Amino acid sequence: MKFPAYSVLFVDDDADVREAAQQTLELADIVVECYGEPEKALLRIKQGWPGILVTDIRMPKMDGMALLQAAIAHDPELPVILVTGHGDVATAVRAMRDGAYDFIEKPFAPDYFVDVMRRAMAHRHLLSENRNLKAELAKHTASGTGLIGRAPSMEKLRALIGNIAGTDAHVMINGETGAGKEVVARTLHDISGRTGPFVAINCGAMPENLIESELFGHEAGAFTGADQKRVGKFEFADKGTLFLDEIESMPLSLQVKLLRVLQERAFERLGSNKVQAIDLRVVAATKIDLRAAASRGAFREDLYYRLNVVQLHIPPLRDRVEDIPLLFQHFMELAKDRFGRDFSPLTASEISVLTRHDWPGNVRELRNAAERRVLGLDLFADEGKTTADATVPLPRQVEAFEKNVICEALRQQGGNVTAVVSVLGVPRKTLYDKLAKYDIVPGNFRNRHNDQPANS
Ligand SMILES: Nc1ncnc2c1ncn2[C@@H]1O[C@H](COP(=O)(O)OP(=O)(O)OP(=O)(O)O)[C@@H](O)[C@H]1O
Ligand SMILES: [Mg+2]
Repeated sequence: MKFPAYSVLFVDDDADVREAAQQTLELADIVVECYGEPEKALLRIKQGWPGILVTDIRMPKMDGMALLQAAIAHDPELPVILVTGHGDVATAVRAMRDGAYDFIEKPFAPDYFVDVMRRAMAHRHLLSENRNLKAELAKHTASGTGLIGRAPSMEKLRALIGNIAGTDAHVMINGETGAGKEVVARTLHDISGRTGPFVAINCGAMPENLIESELFGHEAGAFTGADQKRVGKFEFADKGTLFLDEIESMPLSLQVKLLRVLQERAFERLGSNKVQAIDLRVVAATKIDLRAAASRGAFREDLYYRLNVVQLHIPPLRDRVEDIPLLFQHFMELAKDRFGRDFSPLTASEISVLTRHDWPGNVRELRNAAERRVLGLDLFADEGKTTADATVPLPRQVEAFEKNVICEALRQQGGNVTAVVSVLGVPRKTLYDKLAKYDIVPGNFRNRHNDQPANS
């Protein structure tokens, strides 16, 4: 991972040691400032030193321990490395307990010294990255939109949402699976100032006759089985927002009826001839190219143009990689609350793995990966299932595969071990042995939310 060139503040009262350190670091392309007097170094820290501090422990006047205290009192994120020349490991250990990042014993090999410096710099970089992520998250929470992202495409999307929210123009949202179509629709409604509710209906999940009565409602006796009067979604969504998900699945016959409602701003319940006026704003969502569908006759063109007054395109996650760490952090925080489990900060190599992944399931897939990380599982549920790697010893691959199968079964069975014993067809004792071997806790798979991972 690339990180800015942090510099080293090196403090030692011995001029020869300072010179040697300066040479070693400069040879390694590391910027260094050396001081013989701790007070001067402290002044630099108070000016906002953007790097790390390395200090000798035994010095006249102010010793390394005192400098450590003063330095981290000023900047708690400053990695401080103590140099001990007397095998004084006890002092060094005490320093670590008091907040030092590391210690090295004199004499040290140049390579080792440079290595410790680089690690401390990477550490500093991660701390500041995590702080930025948190600040960024707080900003989003404070602004009241659930839509996270600072990629230029997301900033543009947010601006567009802000521009059109207050109008009653119908909106078409386009984006791949899990990209955030529903979050965008809700955000749009939340800031629209419309007084009615947000009402969602998935056109792809219902047979034709059901969607019609869902939308229009019906009078008692309107059709067989309609024994009671029912208020439809149009009526519920009056003065609010009607979210029509997977609009491409709406049957053509119903498309005509929807078009009429939008044009006349009125509808009738099934089995009634009383026309009721409604104030509707429709937000429709689709994963497909609806214009192409319209031009080949698979979707009504007139409805397409009526709905497509404003089009919001949500870019796939792989086209906004800069948002990946931010979203991942956000979902880890949520998972921490849900599972009551703390998590360690993302490491540089994890961030690099995450940003290289192509996320076919988009933000939903990323949210599942963040939850798996908080639960201590592999980031990608299907890792090892499909990727054979001829460079990894077979037993390790078999173990990875086995662990994934067990976790997946536990997830599907909501953490119920008896059910897992039955679906996997292994003796209970064997399963318990494997749970212990892979450090899997079935309780962590209970109490999951309903949303399914994109790859299930
Ligand atoms: N920009 C975002 N900020 C915060 N959370 C997001 C963002 N985008 C998506 N999510 C979260 O990711 C998950 C999937 O988002 P959503 O349900 O809106 O996707 P979708 O495009 O409607 O998916 P589908 O095509 O499967 O219906 C949800 O949990 C949602 O809260
Ligand atoms: Mg959706």
